Amino acid sequence: MAFETILVEQKGAVTLITLNRPQSLNALNSQVLGELIEAFAAFEADASQRCAVLTGSGEKAFAAGADIKEMADKPAADFYNEDFFSKWTSHIVKTTRKPWIAAVNGFALGGGCELAMMADFIIASENAKFGQPEIKLGVAPGMGGSQRLTRAVGKAKSMDMCLTGRMMDATEAERSGLVSRVVPLADLLGEALKAAETIAAMPPMAAVANKEMVNAAFETTLDQGLLFERRVFQVLTASEDKAEGMKAFIEKRPGVFKGR
Ligand code: CAA
Repeated sequence: MAFETILVEQKGAVTLITLNRPQSLNALNSQVLGELIEAFAAFEADASQRCAVLTGSGEKAFAAGADIKEMADKPAADFYNEDFFSKWTSHIVKTTRKPWIAAVNGFALGGGCELAMMADFIIASENAKFGQPEIKLGVAPGMGGSQRLTRAVGKAKSMDMCLTGRMMDATEAERSGLVSRVVPLADLLGEALKAAETIAAMPPMAAVANKEMVNAAFETTLDQGLLFERRVFQVLTASEDKAEGMKAFIEKRPGVFKGR
């Protein structure tokens, strides 16, 4: 697959996707959207690939938002009629069952913050900065920021970020629960790939199940979520990987998993 705005590499069982428009701080335009959707679909379809990492090229930005230059002169009717951003908010998240990590290097603003929040978790570099500055442009988040940021950090911080348009640094982001770890910039990709390799070595069906269970916590009541968790747990006990995982533990050796 030939892409112009992203780079895709396979590193063993891990797919590394890099947003590659450093001259625009990896701003997200329609071409990036189309290519990302294709790259995630290929990752999902390839049985040899078990976890993905999404990062930005250069040291300055993961992505500085949706491409303002593309949106500046677009008529409102086009935004409405195209249901602009609907693919971003639903497509990748809903069609990617396998786990993926955002490795945020530098700015993750507007759509960049929203794209990072679509990942299963975020690892940030020390220079990372998160924000929803759309208000300064006369608009508001459009790719899930008002919803995912609020679920991640709570109403007070989310309101503060959306209404003032201020940025949150990596320390505050970790303290607020937006990111799972903060590492020096030089170690970011290595740490993210290491985490992805760890996940890739897990029983694949259990990895998908764990992801779906945690996500269910945001979509269901506690009772429904607990029932879903128990049922999925019970189903997993029928898998060959469960038999292998438990046998390997008892025999004090690493498990060899097949995704069955
Ligand atoms: N869209 C298009 N181009 C962008 C961009 C964006 N979101 N962000 C940066 N760029 C471009 C700049 O225009 C500039 O290009 P030129 O050299 O051709 O002028 C280049 O990237 C470098 O940017 P700066 O010179 O501005 O770099 P800086 O270090 O001075 O500032 C920054 C960095 C604070 C991130 C600043 O670029 C900035 O504020 N960017 C916009 C952030 C933003 O408002 N994001 C939200 C977009 S709207 C959105 O995302 C809607 C949604 O919810 C989905």
